[in-house]
Amino acid sequence: MNKPEPVRRADRCPAMSYTEMLLADTRPVPDFLLEEWTRPMSTEPIPVDPYVSPEFARLERERLWPNVWLFAAREEELPDPGDTVVFDIADRSFLLVRQEDGSIRAFYNACLHRGRKLRTGPGAVSQLRCPFHGFTWNADGTLKEIPCAWDFRHLEGRDLRLPEVRVNRWEGFVMITENPDIPEFPEWLGPAATHYAPYDFPNRYTGVWVKKRIAANWKTTAEAFMEAWHSITTHPQLLPFLGDANSRYDLIGDHFNRAITPSGVLSPHITGRDQRFVLQKMNEFSGGSSMAEGRRQTASDDPPGFDPDDPLAARKALAEASRQGFARQYGHDYSHASDAELLDNFTYNIFPNFSAWIGYLPNLVYRWLPGDTPDWCTMEIRLLFPTPKGQPRPRAVECTVIPDDQPFGWAADRMGAALAQVFDQDLANLPHVQTGMKALKSGRLELGAYQESRIRHFHETLMKYIRGELPARAG
Ligand code: FES
Ligand SMILES: [Fe+2]
Repeated sequence: MNKPEPVRRADRCPAMSYTEMLLADTRPVPDFLLEEWTRPMSTEPIPVDPYVSPEFARLERERLWPNVWLFAAREEELPDPGDTVVFDIADRSFLLVRQEDGSIRAFYNACLHRGRKLRTGPGAVSQLRCPFHGFTWNADGTLKEIPCAWDFRHLEGRDLRLPEVRVNRWEGFVMITENPDIPEFPEWLGPAATHYAPYDFPNRYTGVWVKKRIAANWKTTAEAFMEAWHSITTHPQLLPFLGDANSRYDLIGDHFNRAITPSGVLSPHITGRDQRFVLQKMNEFSGGSSMAEGRRQTASDDPPGFDPDDPLAARKALAEASRQGFARQYGHDYSHASDAELLDNFTYNIFPNFSAWIGYLPNLVYRWLPGDTPDWCTMEIRLLFPTPKGQPRPRAVECTVIPDDQPFGWAADRMGAALAQVFDQDLANLPHVQTGMKALKSGRLELGAYQESRIRHFHETLMKYIRGELPARAG
């Protein structure tokens, strides 16, 4: 690996770097966190056209969505034979069916008769019967019955199996692609495919799942979650315990990038506050977040070994509280877990529309789906919880649809009020980013060289697909 060098760089925030925090961790941290992946990127402006143009959305439908791996479902949405999931994206629809042998098939979700969608939602079935005229397929996609078969003699001898797409199962995620030639998902994703291994993802379950339509392009929305530095104005309540400007931004291959933003440290934008302030503020936040309740430092006195002069004192205390709190909550052993893996915000993005955080915290998972015009999208937010030790993995909760006229706070009983507030703050920007981009005189966006490097990287890959440059399968 590239040995981390905790040196100050003129093109980075002058505060403590994330790598320096990792080197001061109370436990060894994995190499894949220490490793920095930067590369020279252009600083040219980005045109607004991809966000606002119906023609660009058409090119995405034609060249992007059919040619990438897409997160279609979590395994725990369809644990038993006959369970189904419908995954709709960009005028396409896929019907996932758990098979008797435990495998998962993904069919084009359209009846071969006159095209009705075979299903419009999840559920358990013994066969796939079209609700229009009753053409019926077995769960494995073979044809079972055509009513009034005498009227379809011309189809005898034809292959009437439901057409399928490729399925890869990875870390409990069901990935699909229509493209027969791109590499298998782990190879397509690259080295980050192995970063998930320590956290037992196949045994995690969807315990919170909400979705909401947003009046902004799917990329406008996704990019609002690719950098931490909007926190200074959009999420000021997080600054007492969020190292926004200390964040690391890494670009790995074409299909993956990440931001890692440390928690439990004072933002470099705040001065004159001590470590007890950090501890207190993060405790308050964690109490209102369904993902972070376990890491509360509940004692009112200073925790054992607390050194108020150590700039990482609160971080170390919160990590220790997490080790003990998560062990109580889930029954697993976290004694080896680094402070970083217990506390930090690993916004891992898998091109183009999928983000699955790593770490020992309940993992945030985002999926962005394009709307029927470039000015709309749907954002889904999940939390994947560890299955408590010795218990069977629970089935995924049903997705809660937040009404268009309601904020994420409408689902605060599921997400926790503090977390819902963060998303509502992002939501307060997004429609105005979408309309503001159309009002820009120049029609161009100017990005930060480092803190917005992920957005530039995302666009580089996107444009490769739009130009038709697809990765080929080895051999
Ligand atoms: S459209 Fe499905 S049976 Fe007619
Ligand atoms: Fe945000």
